Amino acid sequence: MAFVTEPRAVLIDELSLGLAPTIVGMLVDKVRQLHEMGTTIVVIEQSINVALLMSQQALFLEKGQVRFRGRAEGLLDRPEILRAVFVGDADQVASADGAGATPVAGASAARRRRGAHLECRELTKRFGGITAVGGVDLVVPPGRIIGLIGHNGAGKTTLFDMLSGFVDLDGGRVLLDGTDISDEPPHRRPILEVGRSFQEALLYPSLTVTDCVKVALERHLANRDPVAAALHLPASTDSERSAHARAEALIDLLGLDAYRDRPTGELSTGTRRIVELACLLAQDPAVILLDEPSAGVAQSESEALGPLLRRIQAETGCSLVVIEHDMGLLSGLCDELVALEQGRVIARGTPEDVLADPAVVASYLGTDAAFVARSGPRR
Ligand SMILES: Nc1ncnc2c1ncn2[C@@H]1O[C@H](COP(=O)(O)OP(=O)(O)OP(=O)(O)O)[C@@H](O)[C@H]1O
Ligand SMILES: [Mg+2]
Repeated sequence: MAFVTEPRAVLIDELSLGLAPTIVGMLVDKVRQLHEMGTTIVVIEQSINVALLMSQQALFLEKGQVRFRGRAEGLLDRPEILRAVFVGDADQVASADGAGATPVAGASAARRRRGAHLECRELTKRFGGITAVGGVDLVVPPGRIIGLIGHNGAGKTTLFDMLSGFVDLDGGRVLLDGTDISDEPPHRRPILEVGRSFQEALLYPSLTVTDCVKVALERHLANRDPVAAALHLPASTDSERSAHARAEALIDLLGLDAYRDRPTGELSTGTRRIVELACLLAQDPAVILLDEPSAGVAQSESEALGPLLRRIQAETGCSLVVIEHDMGLLSGLCDELVALEQGRVIARGTPEDVLADPAVVASYLGTDAAFVARSGPRR
């Protein structure tokens, strides 16, 4: 729509956000063509790789100040300004394991042994004439990390909606540890151990970051007896203290210190996503469904997300299913990739095999060398 009026300048806020690699490749070409026709382009991008495909000049902003101004490639020589602020790099994440640290996400020995087996068979969902998900089988064994990829509209989010109970099934069953949970409402499923994030971060806008995380933790208070709480009985105050300590540990782990007392409604899109991740981890689910966790966060954060998710998996023994368009993140993270197209599985297997599968390359990754390079694993 911005291009319809043939403007002399176009301002684009996050061109690549949430888009499949082939679509980003096509859009980048369109932007270049427009530029060649004399249009000035200013594009906001979290992905440095995409920004470098389009721009000669770059500005890097931090807290309202210009931290870098110059030729776009020059950004690559300035790792200090591209560092991750929230999730931290892999080393920082590892050092948060230090002795005496409060365990996050319930990293008890008992918890590690638990895990859950999530399985769906022949899942089908239709919206009018569209089969959003058609006969999909998915097995998520305890402790496994599975990546879900596919073009925009392939049915990825709908599949999550079905696993977490947000839409009714037109066919198929969802089983958790062999028990049929297909008819359980969504609010019962976290209790049954399935937790999910949303493509758009959903938070209470007027609550502070700390309070949002505490609300999420509340379900896990060892003692939630309202009478005990009202009388300040020891069991209740002890569990509240431990909830507070765990909320603090999560805020620390995700680098949210500076935001702890800010209402979430005031935060930037990327910061809200990190808070949402903290709230999800607070619920300590055995199966975590993440819908595009890297969308809208800086590239440096998304690079650090892989090591963090692996660490969370190792500490809690949870399994993860991650929807992502960032192939670098997925290929370094996942045991298995499942590719969807028009609601059907077109490939599944190791990341190497799926990313080399001709059907996946043709429909999803495209052949643009820049995106093939982006697909290399990050570890
Ligand atoms: N509530 C709805 N009503 C009608 N159609 C829907 C609804 N939700 C999803 N669809 C359709 O189902 C298909 C799958 O959508 P879905 O959101 O699952 O895709 P996706 O793989 O998550 O895409 P994206 O990468 O863009 O997030 C699309 O054709 C979409 O238009
Ligand atoms: Mg989606």
